[in-house]
Amino acid sequence: MRVNEDTVLRGQRVMLVPYEPHHVIRYHEWMKSEELQKLTASEPLTLEQEYDMQHSWREDNDKCTFIILDAVRWDQGCPEDQCMVGDVNLFIVDPENPTLAEIEIMIAEPTCRGKGFGKESVRLMLFYGVSTLGISTFQAKIGQENTKSVQLFNKLHFKEVSFSPVFEEHTLQWKVTDEERQQLLDTVNFTVKSYRNMKVSENQEINNIQ
Ligand SMILES: CC(C)(COP(=O)(O)OP(=O)(O)OC[C@H]1O[C@@H](n2cnc3c(N)ncnc32)[C@H](O)[C@@H]1OP(=O)(O)O)[C@@H](O)C(=O)NCCC(=O)NCCS
Repeated sequence: MRVNEDTVLRGQRVMLVPYEPHHVIRYHEWMKSEELQKLTASEPLTLEQEYDMQHSWREDNDKCTFIILDAVRWDQGCPEDQCMVGDVNLFIVDPENPTLAEIEIMIAEPTCRGKGFGKESVRLMLFYGVSTLGISTFQAKIGQENTKSVQLFNKLHFKEVSFSPVFEEHTLQWKVTDEERQQLLDTVNFTVKSYRNMKVSENQEINNIQ
């Protein structure tokens, strides 16, 4: 989707930036991991297919994707690809009902897990879904053994609505009440920036150093 193509959501630990072609190589490296393929129910893709996927995620109106950056590393001046820790997506499952979205989260770098990146990224994405995309029901599909992810979503209001023995997958859902919506809007701590301006100032800094 194009709506977030210039949006940066800056939280305490993470920064969400739009998924761009220059992120694809690192993303492709991550997805070679069999553990990640299993945890995210993904098939391995060639690099070319990964570029096509990035392009379609940008163009298709049913998928909103952000890459998660480690904000502290960014502040220390690390190149963007070295700040990448994962991704977070919203997927409009039913074109007849654009208020329902599936949320997916991946903290791909094992050393970055358990540090609050996942929780903050999901909260920022829930905020974005509610405030900008008009989402009022979120779903998460989580593999049977992925207790970490189940616990993460349970902490954020999600409740189990079904379990598929065939896919060995829990479906968790959060129907956002008016009160919960307001609480989310009031408590998520972040700033919004322009990705283009962020890139320009980064390039200026690099040029100044040279
Ligand atoms: C699951 C995942 C998203 C969690 O993100 P994270 O950054 O590691 O988790 P956080 O540090 O933000 O912790 C958030 C909550 O997750 C749960 N959690 C995190 N690590 C955990 C662990 N080792 N054991 C049990 N629960 C854990 C806790 O409930 C935690 O809340 P708390 O800190 O208040 O106790 C991340 O580990 C991940 O992406 N793993 C690989 C891919 C994957 O499984 N994606 C989800 C597919 S559905």
